[in-house]
Amino acid sequence: SFVEEISDPLSSSGDEDDCVADVDWDNLGFGLVTTDYMYTMKCREDGNFTKGELNPYGNIELSPSSGVLNYGQGLFEGTKAFRKEDGGLLLFRPDQNAMRMVMGAERMCMPCPSIDQFVDSVKQTALANKRWVPPPGKGTLYIRPLLLGTGPVLGLAPAPEYTFLVYASPVGNYFKAAGALNLYVEEEYDRSARLGTGGVKTISNYAPVLKAMSRAKSRGFSDVLYLDSVEKKNLEEVSSCNIFIVKGNVISTPAARGTILAGVTRKSIIEIALDHGYLVEERVVPVDELLSADEVFCTGTAVVVAPVGSVTYQDRRVQYKTGVQSVTWELYSTLVGIQRGVIEDKKGWTVEI
Ligand code: COI
Repeated sequence: SFVEEISDPLSSSGDEDDCVADVDWDNLGFGLVTTDYMYTMKCREDGNFTKGELNPYGNIELSPSSGVLNYGQGLFEGTKAFRKEDGGLLLFRPDQNAMRMVMGAERMCMPCPSIDQFVDSVKQTALANKRWVPPPGKGTLYIRPLLLGTGPVLGLAPAPEYTFLVYASPVGNYFKAAGALNLYVEEEYDRSARLGTGGVKTISNYAPVLKAMSRAKSRGFSDVLYLDSVEKKNLEEVSSCNIFIVKGNVISTPAARGTILAGVTRKSIIEIALDHGYLVEERVVPVDELLSADEVFCTGTAVVVAPVGSVTYQDRRVQYKTGVQSVTWELYSTLVGIQRGVIEDKKGWTVEI
């Protein structure tokens, strides 16, 4: 196997490991393509993480009574490595994911790796799997850090031990169908409750969205857009990404006040939009405004910036402007230009590794 052929995962200085993985780079979707190495770090009883290590990617052993399996005590993150034209690699704001994990861990009663430990683990995982980073323009290496309560518990309590794990997979477009998204405004199910964990990237937020998402997909929609659980009239987020609306020169997005995820792409797009002279409002966004918007788009690490072509709310279907003349395209192309190193990164967002 490829794993056995590689002895030192961090000796990837030369060209020999560039783009040699056996992958059809032109047809990458967002399915798992397993790579050579994963990174693991254990948390001792004293709450400190021991030195992490890279090992061949593979299954992990887990107690049947682990906190994560029984009570969902787990967090995940998503970040990416980008291949530059010169073959080098860039990470995009991994410190932001690290900080989000620290905040999430506090909410989920878990110890957490430090910002430096997190960023170093992402670097090591990307470098060890360098040959799996797609060529420029063909995709990215999606990096998935996990923080899991792996110690045994029976009564409901924080787990006595934790494992931090990072694996990676080359990915292309998140949504299978080409073109703009067709969203359905979900009214039967809520994604998150006031004062709940909707703003935390806990694994337990994601299985509950599968039902509405699957139902919408079976009816021909790309995904669902959730409303707030109190008034049922304000936008929250899509199952796996944040939402923005554009009206004239004003770009609005639901404020991240605990019920929606504070996305790294969301935050970056807000800054780019401000730099480009748009007025950006983070606030309560009523569904009525969605229906009268010029453009709508979604943001996320996996999704990047995805234009929304239509929204269906009750018995109304509204269509939006998309394409290369759109504001969405302007923001998307600036973001990916910075991420791929073809637009100067004046903000210090990218990390060369
Ligand atoms: C990401 O965008 O990185 C996420 O974690 C969303 C996930 C559902 C793919």
